[in-house]
Amino acid sequence: MTKPAKRILSGVQPTGNLHLGNYLGALRNWVRLQQEYECFYCLVDLHAITVQQDPAALRTSTRDGAAALLAMGVDPKTSVLFVQSNVAAHAELGWIFNCVARLGWLNRMTQFKEKAGKNKEQATVGLYVYPTLMAADILIYRATHVPVGDDQRQHLELTRDIAQSFNSQYGVEYFPLPEALILGEATRVMSLRDGTMKMSKSDASDYTRINVSDSSDLIAQKIRKARTDAEPLPGDPKGLETRAEAKNLVGIFAALADRTPADVLRDYDGAQFSKFKEDLAELTIAKLGPINDELRRLNADPGYVDGILRDGAERARAVADPIVREVQEIVGFLRP
Ligand code: TRP
Repeated sequence: MTKPAKRILSGVQPTGNLHLGNYLGALRNWVRLQQEYECFYCLVDLHAITVQQDPAALRTSTRDGAAALLAMGVDPKTSVLFVQSNVAAHAELGWIFNCVARLGWLNRMTQFKEKAGKNKEQATVGLYVYPTLMAADILIYRATHVPVGDDQRQHLELTRDIAQSFNSQYGVEYFPLPEALILGEATRVMSLRDGTMKMSKSDASDYTRINVSDSSDLIAQKIRKARTDAEPLPGDPKGLETRAEAKNLVGIFAALADRTPADVLRDYDGAQFSKFKEDLAELTIAKLGPINDELRRLNADPGYVDGILRDGAERARAVADPIVREVQEIVGFLRP
């Protein structure tokens, strides 16, 4: 088997309600990486059901999520865009990895602790083995690089441990040890109402986030109402260290403009937030507007999106199926 030099896999939870944090934190990078890598991007519905989901809503949000990715610039001709559950090999390899990973490794996963909360006994077993399935997502394509946010770094470490452990247990050099790609200024976009909380689709107030689906008027309004402090803007990022909300807005501006915060602040040294927010709203609308238009177009044509996903699943299976067969061979499964 020839190994592709640079192959990417990444996954995103199925949701149509993507916000600026998703876009600047990860998805914008997905689009950029397409030029240099062979990319596999999946909507992780198998992961989604590790917590309870409404079936009809899951189906809709999976399609909407795909539409959002396409609207943001994922190119279905050069990249493979698909739904995780449509490629059975993910779950098949996931099982094999459950038999490689150790309880001790999973017990250290911080995301499980966060998601399971106080009531650990009631968490699903699926939530516990979430990281082994994620390892399978990546390694079923023998991907070499994985663009992820900081919060997924530990899962990627585990993926490397599983790959290494599999290789050494079976005396093969089959799986690559994939590397995290944390790109650019890691843009952690925070809530518009509390600069210490991540921007989140589950926050009760819609005014904490800017959704890709928001109209221009709504974007302007949300930015105008974003929490700030009474001081004018500093001329240097050091002046933002204790000002979480100001830091967040400057970070968003810089990310959208493809500039550094220091560079942005040089223009706004001593400026009032009213002026800065006006410019930020204009910039945000200019960047999200075309995505929003495309999203509307795609949402009006679900058959088109489904066609892309069918084609993506077929191309994903063409790569994943031979790999899962080779793994079964290595493990010693009889194929009469
Ligand atoms: N766990 C990731 C998240 O919550 C989603 C994901 C699932 C993923 N499988 C993946 C990301 C494989 C990268 C690679 O964001």
